[in-house]
Amino acid sequence: SKLFIPLDSFAVACGADTIAEEFQQLKTNRGLSFDIVRNGSRGMAWLEPMIEVETPNGRIAYGPIEPGEAEALVDAGILSGAGHPKHIGKVEEHPFFRAQTRHTFKRCGITDPLSLEDYKAHGGLKGLERAIGIGAAAIVGEVTESGLRGRGGAGFPTGIKWKTVAEATGARKYIVANADEGDSGTFADRMIMEGDPYCLIEGMAIAGVATGATKGYIYLRSEYPVAIDVMREAIRRAQEGGVLGASVLGSSHVFDIEVRVGAGAYVCGEETSLLDSLEGKRGQVRFKPPLPAIQGLFGMPTVINNVITLASTPEILAAGADGYKEMGMGRSRGTIPIQLGGNVKHGGLFEAPFGMTLGEIVNEIGGGTASGRPVRAAQVGGPLGAYFPVSLFDTPFDYEAFAAKDGLIGHAGIVVFDDTVDMMAQARFAFEFCAIESCGKCTPCRVGAVRGYETVKKIIDGERPAENLALVEDLCNTMKFGSLCALGGFTPYPVMSAIRHFPEDFHGEPMRVA
Ligand code: NAI
Repeated sequence: SKLFIPLDSFAVACGADTIAEEFQQLKTNRGLSFDIVRNGSRGMAWLEPMIEVETPNGRIAYGPIEPGEAEALVDAGILSGAGHPKHIGKVEEHPFFRAQTRHTFKRCGITDPLSLEDYKAHGGLKGLERAIGIGAAAIVGEVTESGLRGRGGAGFPTGIKWKTVAEATGARKYIVANADEGDSGTFADRMIMEGDPYCLIEGMAIAGVATGATKGYIYLRSEYPVAIDVMREAIRRAQEGGVLGASVLGSSHVFDIEVRVGAGAYVCGEETSLLDSLEGKRGQVRFKPPLPAIQGLFGMPTVINNVITLASTPEILAAGADGYKEMGMGRSRGTIPIQLGGNVKHGGLFEAPFGMTLGEIVNEIGGGTASGRPVRAAQVGGPLGAYFPVSLFDTPFDYEAFAAKDGLIGHAGIVVFDDTVDMMAQARFAFEFCAIESCGKCTPCRVGAVRGYETVKKIIDGERPAENLALVEDLCNTMKFGSLCALGGFTPYPVMSAIRHFPEDFHGEPMRVA
């Protein structure tokens, strides 16, 4: 039988490596017969490290497990699925999991992430096989038809991007996976890379076949050491297994992938800075046009997509566009892996079709705050996303619905705050973040962020609050319309939403909660 102990950073941060060693030692000392599989996370972060035991009745989960507990757990009979205070039961029957539609994350946490055999046994490579069979134009057609939009945040139609690259001319073309997941409260890219790395590899190879690109790069942030190790090993095995290389799955297509590690700049998640960084330069935003699709990496046509966008394509190709297109609402088709974090009871990854309301996600799925206090705000879409008050919690998770309320779903990270949050401090933090992370190329962002920080500080200090508030609004307008990229351009979202929806916090006195 098998014992699953996640290698995912959620679990590792809570001692999973030690727990795995302890079980390994027990196995040797007692001559027990089970195999330890280091799997990905099932996404229920508050239960990590969550281990699973393979029994005749299915996989039984226990958690959260702490280092030092292994012996007592084995003595209690958990290896045969016995009852125990940490008994969770079957993950598929857990309310948090059962309510999901696992499309992109269908294998994550189930398979051995590094086993190519396991990947194939769970439907892996079917998308790439079909892609090779139907050819470039039909692949682009299928992806366009599915309605898939860029999951990095902007929501640009993936099929159109691929078509642009397919039709562009260049001596070489590239596929770049943006794995510089810098948004606070997001972890979907990391989870898929740690838990199902071949899915990203397959998606990139499909993009390669669709556009004629022969080389792929994964630009992976240095803060993700586990993902870096897993991706590198998976690429090595994919090369050995004939998935990557001079003949992709025995076809005439050439495609290979390399991992490149970032150095911690948030702005390198912006596509043109990322390309500069990949080229060995300091990561600074480029002017657009030219679009990366026309002149990207080393001046060549380049598909640059977020990890989740690419990882969503194998299943779309394998199952056809129709099933994907049927899910969702409005122009937001398919599923979105929502990442719940901050002050929330049940944090983790929740994949569902677009259309659930923010309130359903925060209160019903997330279970409200971890502190038990009332929810006051949720910031959706990373540090550049708007703060939504509870009165906007009826907003459905959909690109257009959020935009209509001056918000964004971005990379679908949700950070929850309770009623002790000081929204003026959050507004100041947005400017501070922008000031620290600005690449410095354009003036609205470089100077605006610093002046914004100072001006909010004046309001906090009670210095001519009304006048300074008007200055902040004016500055936000300049940054929104004058910045070169989304860093300066989107900083006004958290600032203005804080001012607009929580005016009571901007009267010169930080709000105090009894
Ligand atoms: P954008 O709207 O300028 O571009 C979106 C994508 O479409 C780009 O890849 C662009 O090259 C491509 N594109 C645009 N027109 C095209 C055309 N005609 N043909 C082919 N491709 C075309 O948005 P941008 O600046 O790339 O991203 C902004 C978004 O980034 C924001 O919405 C924000 O949510 C998100 N973001 C995400 C972060 C993360 O960690 N995932 C961090 C910060 C921001």
